[in-house]
Amino acid sequence: MPTASTPPAAKPMEPGASGGAPSAASRLRVAGVETASIGSVAAAACLLALWIPNAEVQRSVIWSIGLAAAGFAITVMLIPVFSSMTLGRGNLGGRDLGKRHDPARRDTVIPESLGIVSGIAFLGLLIVGELVFTRGRPDAYLELSTALLSITFMMLLGFMDDVLDLKWRYKLVLPLVASMPLLVMYDGATTIVLPRFMRFLVAEAGSQSLTPLGGLLALVPGVSVDRHSEGAVLDLGVWYLVFMSLLAIFCTNAINIYAGINGLEPGQSLVIASAILATNLLELVGGGDLESPHLHSARLMLPFCGVTLALLAFNLSPAAVFVGDTFCYFAGMTIAVAGIQGHFSKTLLLFFAPQIINFLYSVPQLFKVVPCPRHRLPGVDAATGLMVPSTYEIKLSDGSTATRDNMTLICLVLRITGPIKEATLTRVLLGIQVVACCAGIWLRFALSSYTLDVEQAANAAARAADL
Ligand code: UD1
Ligand code: MG
Repeated sequence: MPTASTPPAAKPMEPGASGGAPSAASRLRVAGVETASIGSVAAAACLLALWIPNAEVQRSVIWSIGLAAAGFAITVMLIPVFSSMTLGRGNLGGRDLGKRHDPARRDTVIPESLGIVSGIAFLGLLIVGELVFTRGRPDAYLELSTALLSITFMMLLGFMDDVLDLKWRYKLVLPLVASMPLLVMYDGATTIVLPRFMRFLVAEAGSQSLTPLGGLLALVPGVSVDRHSEGAVLDLGVWYLVFMSLLAIFCTNAINIYAGINGLEPGQSLVIASAILATNLLELVGGGDLESPHLHSARLMLPFCGVTLALLAFNLSPAAVFVGDTFCYFAGMTIAVAGIQGHFSKTLLLFFAPQIINFLYSVPQLFKVVPCPRHRLPGVDAATGLMVPSTYEIKLSDGSTATRDNMTLICLVLRITGPIKEATLTRVLLGIQVVACCAGIWLRFALSSYTLDVEQAANAAARAADL
Protein backbone atom coordinates (compact mmCIF):
# COMPACT_ATOMS: atom_id res chain seq x y z
CA MET A 1 0.00 0.00 0.00
CA PRO A 2 1.39 3.39 -0.88
CA THR A 3 1.98 5.71 1.99
CA ALA A 4 -0.61 8.45 2.00
CA SER A 5 1.55 11.51 1.60
CA THR A 6 1.41 15.13 2.54
CA PRO A 7 1.40 16.87 -0.82
CA PRO A 8 3.39 19.97 0.24
CA ALA A 9 6.37 17.67 1.01
CA ALA A 10 6.53 16.58 -2.63
CA LYS A 11 9.47 17.81 -4.66
CA PRO A 12 9.41 18.06 -8.45
CA MET A 13 10.57 14.78 -9.94
CA GLU A 14 12.68 15.87 -12.83
CA PRO A 15 13.61 19.03 -14.70
CA GLY A 16 10.67 20.34 -16.62
CA ALA A 17 8.14 18.84 -14.24
CA SER A 18 5.31 21.03 -13.14
CA GLY A 19 3.31 20.54 -9.95
CA GLY A 20 5.08 17.24 -9.19
CA ALA A 21 4.10 15.74 -12.56
CA PRO A 22 6.47 15.15 -15.48
CA SER A 23 5.42 16.46 -18.87
CA ALA A 24 4.96 13.79 -21.55
CA ALA A 25 7.77 15.25 -23.68
CA SER A 26 10.29 15.43 -20.84
CA ARG A 27 9.47 11.89 -19.78
CA LEU A 28 9.84 10.49 -23.26
CA ARG A 29 13.23 12.21 -23.44
CA VAL A 30 14.29 10.45 -20.21
CA ALA A 31 12.94 6.97 -20.99
CA GLY A 32 12.21 7.08 -24.73
CA VAL A 33 15.01 4.83 -25.98
CA GLU A 34 14.47 2.18 -23.34
CA THR A 35 10.69 2.28 -23.79
CA ALA A 36 11.13 1.88 -27.54
CA SER A 37 13.46 -1.10 -27.12
CA ILE A 38 11.07 -2.91 -24.75
CA GLY A 39 8.12 -1.88 -26.95
CA SER A 40 9.81 -3.45 -29.96
CA VAL A 41 8.90 -6.86 -28.45
CA ALA A 42 5.22 -6.02 -28.99
CA ALA A 43 5.93 -4.35 -32.35
CA ALA A 44 7.68 -7.53 -33.57
CA ALA A 45 4.58 -9.56 -32.64
CA CYS A 46 2.40 -7.09 -34.62
CA LEU A 47 4.43 -7.78 -37.77
CA LEU A 48 2.93 -11.29 -37.86
CA ALA A 49 -0.35 -9.65 -38.96
CA LEU A 50 1.20 -9.26 -42.43
CA TRP A 51 0.91 -13.02 -42.99
CA ILE A 52 -2.71 -13.47 -41.90
CA PRO A 53 -4.44 -15.04 -44.93
CA ASN A 54 -8.06 -14.05 -44.17
CA ALA A 55 -8.49 -10.41 -45.30
CA GLU A 56 -11.35 -9.66 -42.86
CA VAL A 57 -9.35 -11.00 -39.92
CA GLN A 58 -6.30 -9.05 -41.04
CA ARG A 59 -8.36 -5.84 -41.28
CA SER A 60 -9.69 -6.42 -37.79
CA VAL A 61 -6.17 -6.89 -36.40
CA ILE A 62 -5.00 -3.71 -38.14
CA TRP A 63 -7.92 -1.83 -36.54
CA SER A 64 -6.75 -3.09 -33.16
CA ILE A 65 -3.18 -1.99 -33.91
CA GLY A 66 -4.73 1.46 -34.48
CA LEU A 67 -6.46 1.22 -31.09
CA ALA A 68 -3.10 0.27 -29.53
CA ALA A 69 -1.47 3.37 -31.02
CA ALA A 70 -4.38 5.51 -29.79
CA GLY A 71 -4.09 3.90 -26.35
CA PHE A 72 -0.39 4.76 -26.22
CA ALA A 73 -0.99 8.39 -27.21
CA ILE A 74 -3.96 8.91 -24.85
CA THR A 75 -2.14 7.38 -21.88
CA VAL A 76 1.04 9.37 -22.51
CA MET A 77 -1.02 12.57 -22.61
CA LEU A 78 -3.18 11.82 -19.58
CA ILE A 79 -0.59 10.50 -17.09
CA PRO A 80 0.91 13.96 -16.40
CA VAL A 81 -2.59 15.38 -15.84
CA PHE A 82 -3.63 12.62 -13.44
CA SER A 83 -0.22 12.58 -11.68
CA SER A 84 -0.93 16.08 -10.37
CA MET A 85 -4.40 15.00 -9.26
CA THR A 86 -3.22 11.89 -7.40
CA LEU A 87 -0.67 13.94 -5.47
CA GLY A 88 -3.16 16.75 -4.94
CA ARG A 89 -6.73 15.88 -4.05
CA GLY A 90 -6.13 12.13 -4.33
CA ASN A 91 -3.35 12.33 -1.74
CA LEU A 92 -1.90 9.13 -3.16
CA GLY A 93 1.84 8.88 -3.37
CA GLY A 94 4.81 6.85 -2.25
CA ARG A 95 8.54 7.24 -1.80
CA ASP A 96 10.83 5.36 -4.16
CA LEU A 97 12.48 2.89 -1.78
CA GLY A 98 15.12 2.08 -4.39
CA LYS A 99 16.39 5.67 -4.17
CA ARG A 100 17.01 5.74 -0.40
CA HIS A 101 20.71 6.35 -1.04
CA ASP A 102 20.07 9.40 -3.22
CA PRO A 103 19.58 12.65 -1.23
CA ALA A 104 18.09 14.34 -4.31
CA ARG A 105 15.34 11.73 -4.70
CA ARG A 106 14.73 9.94 -1.43
CA ASP A 107 12.22 12.48 -0.07
CA THR A 108 10.39 12.97 -3.34
CA VAL A 109 6.80 11.74 -3.20
CA ILE A 110 5.93 9.95 -6.40
CA PRO A 111 2.32 9.82 -7.62
CA GLU A 112 0.84 6.35 -7.08
CA SER A 113 -1.88 4.24 -8.75
CA LEU A 114 -1.36 5.69 -12.23
CA GLY A 115 -2.41 2.29 -13.55
CA ILE A 116 -5.88 3.76 -13.29
CA VAL A 117 -5.11 5.98 -16.30
CA SER A 118 -3.92 3.15 -18.52
CA GLY A 119 -6.85 1.04 -17.26
CA ILE A 120 -9.50 3.64 -18.06
CA ALA A 121 -7.92 4.31 -21.47
CA PHE A 122 -8.00 0.57 -22.15
CA LEU A 123 -11.65 0.19 -21.12
CA GLY A 124 -12.62 3.23 -23.21
CA LEU A 125 -10.86 1.80 -26.26
CA LEU A 126 -12.52 -1.59 -25.81
CA ILE A 127 -15.92 0.08 -25.67
CA VAL A 128 -15.11 1.91 -28.91
CA GLY A 129 -13.82 -1.44 -30.22
CA GLU A 130 -17.22 -3.00 -29.51
CA LEU A 131 -18.73 -0.49 -31.96
CA VAL A 132 -16.24 -1.43 -34.64
CA PHE A 133 -15.97 -5.18 -34.12
CA THR A 134 -19.26 -6.41 -32.75
CA ARG A 135 -22.05 -4.34 -34.31
CA GLY A 136 -24.73 -6.76 -35.52
CA ARG A 137 -22.90 -9.70 -33.90
CA PRO A 138 -24.55 -10.25 -30.48
CA ASP A 139 -22.37 -13.24 -29.55
CA ALA A 140 -19.16 -11.29 -30.11
CA TYR A 141 -20.64 -8.32 -28.23
CA LEU A 142 -21.50 -10.54 -25.28
CA GLU A 143 -18.02 -12.03 -25.16
CA LEU A 144 -16.28 -8.64 -25.24
CA SER A 145 -18.70 -7.24 -22.66
CA THR A 146 -17.98 -10.18 -20.37
CA ALA A 147 -14.28 -9.41 -20.64
CA LEU A 148 -15.02 -5.76 -19.81
CA LEU A 149 -17.04 -6.76 -16.76
CA SER A 150 -14.35 -8.96 -15.24
CA ILE A 151 -11.54 -6.51 -15.96
CA THR A 152 -13.47 -3.52 -14.60
CA PHE A 153 -14.29 -5.41 -11.40
CA MET A 154 -10.60 -6.20 -10.83
CA MET A 155 -9.48 -2.68 -11.60
CA LEU A 156 -11.89 -1.40 -8.97
CA LEU A 157 -10.51 -3.91 -6.48
CA GLY A 158 -6.95 -2.77 -7.28
CA PHE A 159 -7.87 0.86 -6.74
CA MET A 160 -9.53 -0.07 -3.44
CA ASP A 161 -6.34 -1.86 -2.45
CA ASP A 162 -4.28 1.25 -3.23
CA VAL A 163 -6.58 3.46 -1.19
CA LEU A 164 -7.60 1.11 1.63
CA ASP A 165 -4.81 -1.50 1.80
CA LEU A 166 -7.05 -4.57 1.61
CA LYS A 167 -6.44 -7.74 3.60
CA TRP A 168 -5.21 -10.84 1.77
CA ARG A 169 -8.53 -12.67 2.13
CA TYR A 170 -10.22 -10.03 -0.08
CA LYS A 171 -7.42 -10.24 -2.62
CA LEU A 172 -8.02 -13.97 -2.94
CA VAL A 173 -11.81 -14.12 -2.87
CA LEU A 174 -12.72 -11.14 -5.05
CA PRO A 175 -10.76 -12.25 -8.16
CA LEU A 176 -12.76 -15.49 -7.89
CA VAL A 177 -15.96 -13.46 -8.12
CA ALA A 178 -14.50 -11.37 -10.95
CA SER A 179 -13.76 -14.52 -12.97
CA MET A 180 -17.33 -15.81 -12.78
CA PRO A 181 -18.72 -13.98 -15.83
CA LEU A 182 -15.90 -15.58 -17.84
CA LEU A 183 -16.79 -19.06 -16.63
CA VAL A 184 -20.47 -18.57 -17.42
CA MET A 185 -19.56 -17.56 -20.98
CA TYR A 186 -16.81 -20.17 -21.49
CA ASP A 187 -17.59 -22.36 -24.48
CA GLY A 188 -14.13 -23.84 -25.13
CA ALA A 189 -12.92 -27.37 -24.43
CA THR A 190 -12.72 -28.62 -20.88
CA THR A 191 -10.40 -31.43 -21.95
CA ILE A 192 -6.67 -31.71 -21.53
CA VAL A 193 -4.48 -33.75 -23.85
CA LEU A 194 -1.83 -35.70 -21.97
CA PRO A 195 1.69 -35.88 -23.44
CA ARG A 196 2.43 -39.33 -24.88
CA PHE A 197 4.92 -40.24 -22.19
CA MET A 198 2.28 -39.76 -19.46
CA ARG A 199 -0.58 -41.72 -20.99
CA PHE A 200 0.52 -45.05 -19.50
CA LEU A 201 -0.48 -43.61 -16.12
CA VAL A 202 -4.18 -43.60 -17.00
CA ALA A 203 -4.69 -46.23 -19.73
CA GLU A 204 -3.21 -49.59 -20.77
CA ALA A 205 -1.44 -49.28 -24.14
CA GLY A 206 -3.13 -51.20 -26.98
CA SER A 207 -6.34 -51.83 -25.08
CA GLN A 208 -9.29 -49.80 -23.93
CA SER A 209 -8.81 -50.55 -20.22
CA LEU A 210 -7.84 -47.96 -17.64
CA THR A 211 -5.04 -48.28 -15.10
CA PRO A 212 -5.98 -48.07 -11.39
CA LEU A 213 -5.13 -44.33 -11.47
CA GLY A 214 -7.25 -43.85 -14.63
CA GLY A 215 -10.12 -45.71 -12.94
CA LEU A 216 -9.80 -43.51 -9.87
CA LEU A 217 -9.85 -40.35 -12.01
CA ALA A 218 -12.94 -41.59 -13.84
CA LEU A 219 -14.70 -41.90 -10.47
CA VAL A 220 -14.27 -38.16 -9.72
CA PRO A 221 -17.61 -36.45 -10.41
CA GLY A 222 -17.41 -34.45 -13.64
CA VAL A 223 -14.21 -36.13 -14.91
CA SER A 224 -14.12 -38.58 -17.82
CA VAL A 225 -11.21 -40.44 -19.33
CA ASP A 226 -11.43 -41.24 -23.03
CA ARG A 227 -10.72 -44.98 -23.34
CA HIS A 228 -10.59 -44.79 -27.16
CA SER A 229 -7.66 -42.39 -27.12
CA GLU A 230 -5.62 -44.69 -24.83
CA GLY A 231 -5.43 -42.06 -22.10
CA ALA A 232 -4.64 -39.13 -24.42
CA VAL A 233 -7.68 -37.12 -23.46
CA LEU A 234 -9.01 -36.27 -20.01
CA ASP A 235 -12.22 -34.30 -19.81
CA LEU A 236 -12.01 -32.35 -16.55
CA GLY A 237 -15.53 -30.94 -16.86
CA VAL A 238 -16.34 -28.56 -14.04
CA TRP A 239 -12.81 -28.92 -12.61
CA TYR A 240 -11.48 -27.16 -15.68
CA LEU A 241 -13.62 -24.16 -14.73
CA VAL A 242 -12.19 -24.35 -11.20
CA PHE A 243 -8.72 -24.34 -12.76
CA MET A 244 -9.57 -21.22 -14.77
CA SER A 245 -10.82 -19.40 -11.66
CA LEU A 246 -7.60 -20.26 -9.87
CA LEU A 247 -5.71 -19.00 -12.90
CA ALA A 248 -7.48 -15.63 -12.63
CA ILE A 249 -6.63 -15.40 -8.91
CA PHE A 250 -3.03 -16.36 -9.64
CA CYS A 251 -2.51 -13.92 -12.53
CA THR A 252 -3.87 -10.95 -10.57
CA ASN A 253 -1.73 -11.58 -7.50
CA ALA A 254 1.40 -12.95 -9.20
CA ILE A 255 2.28 -9.67 -10.91
CA ASN A 256 1.71 -7.75 -7.69
CA ILE A 257 4.17 -9.85 -5.67
CA TYR A 258 6.83 -9.82 -8.43
CA ALA A 259 7.28 -6.08 -8.03
CA GLY A 260 9.13 -3.33 -6.23
CA ILE A 261 11.71 -2.07 -8.73
CA ASN A 262 11.03 0.59 -11.33
CA GLY A 263 9.59 -0.71 -14.59
CA LEU A 264 9.07 -4.31 -13.50
CA GLU A 265 5.25 -4.36 -13.11
CA PRO A 266 4.36 -2.85 -16.52
CA GLY A 267 7.47 -4.40 -18.14
CA GLN A 268 6.59 -8.01 -17.25
CA SER A 269 2.95 -7.41 -18.22
CA LEU A 270 3.99 -6.02 -21.59
CA VAL A 271 6.28 -8.96 -22.34
CA ILE A 272 3.60 -11.52 -21.37
CA ALA A 273 0.95 -9.64 -23.40
CA SER A 274 3.31 -9.59 -26.40
CA ALA A 275 3.76 -13.36 -26.10
CA ILE A 276 -0.02 -13.87 -25.99
CA LEU A 277 -0.37 -11.58 -28.99
CA ALA A 278 2.31 -13.52 -30.89
CA THR A 279 0.58 -16.82 -30.05
CA ASN A 280 -2.76 -15.48 -31.28
CA LEU A 281 -1.33 -14.05 -34.49
CA LEU A 282 0.63 -17.23 -35.23
CA GLU A 283 -2.61 -19.19 -34.85
CA LEU A 284 -4.39 -16.71 -37.16
CA VAL A 285 -1.57 -16.97 -39.72
CA GLY A 286 -2.45 -20.68 -39.81
CA GLY A 287 -6.13 -19.83 -40.48
CA GLY A 288 -9.22 -18.65 -38.64
CA ASP A 289 -12.24 -16.43 -39.25
CA LEU A 290 -13.91 -13.51 -37.47
CA GLU A 291 -15.29 -15.88 -34.82
CA SER A 292 -11.85 -17.19 -33.87
CA PRO A 293 -11.10 -17.00 -30.12
CA HIS A 294 -7.55 -16.03 -31.10
CA LEU A 295 -8.82 -12.92 -32.87
CA HIS A 296 -10.83 -11.97 -29.80
CA SER A 297 -7.79 -12.49 -27.57
CA ALA A 298 -5.56 -10.42 -29.92
CA ARG A 299 -8.14 -7.60 -29.83
CA LEU A 300 -7.77 -7.51 -26.05
CA MET A 301 -3.99 -7.67 -26.06
CA LEU A 302 -3.27 -4.98 -28.65
CA PRO A 303 -4.83 -1.99 -26.83
CA PHE A 304 -3.45 -3.43 -23.58
CA CYS A 305 0.09 -3.36 -25.04
CA GLY A 306 -0.42 0.25 -26.20
CA VAL A 307 -1.54 1.63 -22.83
CA THR A 308 1.00 -0.46 -20.89
CA LEU A 309 3.90 0.74 -23.02
CA ALA A 310 2.93 4.34 -22.24
CA LEU A 311 2.72 3.59 -18.51
CA LEU A 312 6.11 1.86 -18.68
CA ALA A 313 7.69 5.02 -20.12
CA PHE A 314 6.73 6.85 -16.92
CA ASN A 315 7.61 4.00 -14.57
CA LEU A 316 11.11 3.17 -15.83
CA SER A 317 13.99 4.19 -13.57
CA PRO A 318 13.98 6.88 -12.26
CA ALA A 319 10.23 6.34 -11.88
CA ALA A 320 8.08 9.44 -12.41
CA VAL A 321 4.94 7.54 -11.38
CA PHE A 322 4.08 4.28 -9.62
CA VAL A 323 1.56 2.00 -11.26
CA GLY A 324 -0.12 0.82 -8.02
CA ASP A 325 -2.07 -2.32 -7.31
CA THR A 326 -4.69 -0.87 -9.65
CA PHE A 327 -2.41 -1.72 -12.55
CA CYS A 328 -1.26 -5.12 -11.21
CA TYR A 329 -4.83 -6.39 -10.82
CA PHE A 330 -6.03 -4.81 -14.06
CA ALA A 331 -3.08 -6.29 -15.97
CA GLY A 332 -3.37 -9.73 -14.34
CA MET A 333 -7.08 -9.99 -15.07
CA THR A 334 -6.76 -8.71 -18.65
CA ILE A 335 -4.05 -11.28 -19.34
CA ALA A 336 -6.10 -14.05 -17.68
CA VAL A 337 -9.16 -13.10 -19.75
CA ALA A 338 -7.08 -13.15 -22.95
CA GLY A 339 -5.85 -16.65 -22.09
CA ILE A 340 -9.24 -18.00 -21.02
CA GLN A 341 -11.32 -16.49 -23.84
CA GLY A 342 -8.52 -17.29 -26.31
CA HIS A 343 -8.84 -20.94 -25.16
CA PHE A 344 -5.15 -21.38 -24.28
CA SER A 345 -5.04 -21.09 -20.52
CA LYS A 346 -2.41 -23.83 -20.20
CA THR A 347 0.02 -22.07 -22.57
CA LEU A 348 -0.53 -18.94 -20.50
CA LEU A 349 1.00 -20.71 -17.51
CA LEU A 350 4.22 -21.22 -19.52
CA PHE A 351 4.48 -17.44 -20.02
CA PHE A 352 4.10 -16.99 -16.27
CA ALA A 353 7.11 -19.22 -15.46
CA PRO A 354 9.07 -16.46 -13.61
CA GLN A 355 5.93 -15.47 -11.66
CA ILE A 356 5.27 -19.13 -10.77
CA ILE A 357 8.85 -19.55 -9.53
CA ASN A 358 8.54 -16.30 -7.55
CA PHE A 359 5.24 -17.42 -6.02
CA LEU A 360 6.45 -20.93 -5.07
CA TYR A 361 9.68 -19.52 -3.63
CA SER A 362 7.64 -16.91 -1.70
CA VAL A 363 5.22 -19.44 -0.17
CA PRO A 364 6.99 -19.70 3.24
CA GLN A 365 6.84 -15.90 3.63
CA LEU A 366 3.35 -15.50 2.15
CA PHE A 367 1.96 -18.11 4.55
CA LYS A 368 3.99 -16.67 7.46
CA VAL A 369 6.03 -19.84 8.03
CA VAL A 370 8.94 -17.40 8.24
CA PRO A 371 8.63 -13.64 8.87
CA CYS A 372 7.43 -11.53 5.94
CA PRO A 373 8.31 -7.82 6.12
CA ARG A 374 5.81 -5.31 4.67
CA HIS A 375 8.21 -4.68 1.76
CA ARG A 376 10.40 -7.38 0.25
CA LEU A 377 11.81 -5.22 -2.53
CA PRO A 378 15.63 -5.15 -2.78
CA GLY A 379 17.80 -3.04 -0.54
CA VAL A 380 20.29 -0.41 -1.67
CA ASP A 381 23.97 -0.29 -0.77
CA ALA A 382 24.32 3.27 0.59
CA ALA A 383 27.95 3.59 -0.52
CA THR A 384 27.54 2.48 -4.15
CA GLY A 385 23.81 3.03 -4.79
CA LEU A 386 23.65 -0.52 -6.19
CA MET A 387 20.81 -2.93 -5.39
CA VAL A 388 21.41 -5.81 -3.00
CA PRO A 389 19.09 -8.56 -1.70
CA SER A 390 16.88 -7.36 1.15
CA THR A 391 16.63 -9.49 4.27
CA TYR A 392 14.37 -10.52 7.12
CA GLU A 393 15.32 -11.52 10.65
CA ILE A 394 14.71 -14.98 12.00
CA LYS A 395 15.08 -16.32 15.57
CA LEU A 396 17.25 -19.42 15.76
CA SER A 397 16.64 -22.29 18.20
CA ASP A 398 19.57 -21.14 20.41
CA GLY A 399 17.83 -17.77 20.93
CA SER A 400 20.15 -15.79 18.62
CA THR A 401 18.90 -13.99 15.50
CA ALA A 402 20.08 -14.38 11.93
CA THR A 403 19.27 -12.58 8.71
CA ARG A 404 18.12 -14.33 5.56
CA ASP A 405 17.41 -13.03 2.05
CA ASN A 406 13.76 -12.27 1.35
CA MET A 407 12.34 -15.15 -0.65
CA THR A 408 11.70 -13.42 -3.97
CA LEU A 409 13.03 -14.15 -7.43
CA ILE A 410 14.31 -10.55 -7.52
CA CYS A 411 16.54 -11.10 -4.46
CA LEU A 412 17.62 -14.51 -5.79
CA VAL A 413 18.71 -12.98 -9.10
CA LEU A 414 20.58 -10.26 -7.19
CA ARG A 415 22.34 -12.93 -5.14
CA ILE A 416 23.52 -14.51 -8.40
CA THR A 417 24.47 -11.32 -10.27
CA GLY A 418 25.92 -9.48 -7.27
CA PRO A 419 25.10 -5.78 -6.67
CA ILE A 420 23.81 -4.04 -9.82
CA LYS A 421 21.97 -0.82 -10.70
CA GLU A 422 18.17 -0.82 -10.44
CA ALA A 423 17.76 -0.17 -14.18
CA THR A 424 20.11 -3.08 -14.97
CA LEU A 425 18.18 -5.37 -12.62
CA THR A 426 14.93 -4.48 -14.41
CA ARG A 427 16.58 -5.30 -17.74
CA VAL A 428 17.88 -8.65 -16.45
CA LEU A 429 14.44 -9.63 -15.06
CA LEU A 430 12.65 -8.58 -18.24
CA GLY A 431 15.26 -10.54 -20.22
CA ILE A 432 14.36 -13.63 -18.16
CA GLN A 433 10.67 -12.93 -18.92
CA VAL A 434 11.37 -12.71 -22.66
CA VAL A 435 13.27 -16.03 -22.55
CA ALA A 436 10.40 -17.70 -20.62
CA CYS A 437 7.83 -16.41 -23.10
CA CYS A 438 9.87 -17.45 -26.17
CA ALA A 439 10.31 -20.91 -24.61
CA GLY A 440 6.54 -21.01 -23.96
CA ILE A 441 5.70 -20.19 -27.58
CA TRP A 442 8.25 -22.74 -28.79
CA LEU A 443 6.85 -25.43 -26.48
CA ARG A 444 3.31 -24.72 -27.71
CA PHE A 445 4.08 -24.87 -31.41
CA ALA A 446 7.31 -26.76 -32.06
CA LEU A 447 7.07 -29.47 -29.45
CA SER A 448 3.37 -30.19 -29.67
CA SER A 449 3.79 -32.86 -32.35
CA TYR A 450 6.50 -34.57 -30.30
CA THR A 451 4.65 -34.67 -27.00
CA LEU A 452 1.02 -34.52 -27.96
CA ASP A 453 0.51 -36.60 -31.10
CA VAL A 454 -1.83 -33.95 -32.43
CA GLU A 455 -3.86 -35.97 -34.89
CA GLN A 456 -4.68 -38.66 -32.39
CA ALA A 457 -5.49 -36.07 -29.77
CA ALA A 458 -7.71 -34.09 -32.13
CA ASN A 459 -9.70 -37.17 -33.07
CA ALA A 460 -9.96 -38.19 -29.48
CA ALA A 461 -10.97 -34.69 -28.34
CA ALA A 462 -13.76 -34.71 -30.91
CA ARG A 463 -14.97 -38.01 -29.46
CA ALA A 464 -14.48 -36.75 -25.90
CA ALA A 465 -17.08 -34.07 -26.56
CA ASP A 466 -19.63 -36.88 -26.77
CA LEU A 467 -18.47 -38.61 -23.60
C1 UD1 B 1 4.06 -6.07 -2.92
C2 UD1 B 1 5.04 -7.03 -2.29
C3 UD1 B 1 6.06 -6.27 -1.44
C4 UD1 B 1 6.77 -5.25 -2.31
C5 UD1 B 1 5.74 -4.32 -2.96
C6 UD1 B 1 6.43 -3.37 -3.92
C7 UD1 B 1 4.66 -9.27 -1.42
C8 UD1 B 1 3.87 -10.12 -0.49
N1 UD1 B 1 4.35 -7.97 -1.43
O1 UD1 B 1 3.29 -5.50 -1.86
O2 UD1 B 1 7.00 -7.16 -0.89
O3 UD1 B 1 7.68 -4.50 -1.55
O4 UD1 B 1 4.75 -5.09 -3.68
O5 UD1 B 1 5.63 -2.95 -4.96
O6 UD1 B 1 5.54 -9.72 -2.12
N2 UD1 B 1 7.84 0.88 -4.66
C9 UD1 B 1 9.11 1.34 -4.91
N3 UD1 B 1 9.61 1.16 -6.18
C10 UD1 B 1 8.89 0.58 -7.16
C11 UD1 B 1 7.58 0.11 -6.89
C12 UD1 B 1 7.08 0.28 -5.60
O7 UD1 B 1 9.78 1.89 -4.05
O8 UD1 B 1 9.37 0.46 -8.31
C13 UD1 B 1 7.29 1.11 -3.30
C14 UD1 B 1 6.72 2.53 -3.18
O9 UD1 B 1 6.95 3.01 -1.88
C15 UD1 B 1 5.25 2.31 -3.44
C16 UD1 B 1 5.03 0.94 -2.80
O10 UD1 B 1 6.23 0.19 -3.07
O11 UD1 B 1 4.44 3.29 -2.83
C17 UD1 B 1 3.86 0.21 -3.39
O12 UD1 B 1 3.73 -0.96 -2.69
P1 UD1 B 1 2.38 -1.82 -2.82
O13 UD1 B 1 2.12 -2.09 -4.27
O14 UD1 B 1 1.29 -1.18 -2.09
O15 UD1 B 1 2.83 -3.15 -2.11
P2 UD1 B 1 2.06 -4.52 -2.13
O16 UD1 B 1 1.46 -4.75 -3.45
O17 UD1 B 1 1.17 -4.64 -0.94
MG1 MG C 1 1.55 -3.71 -5.31
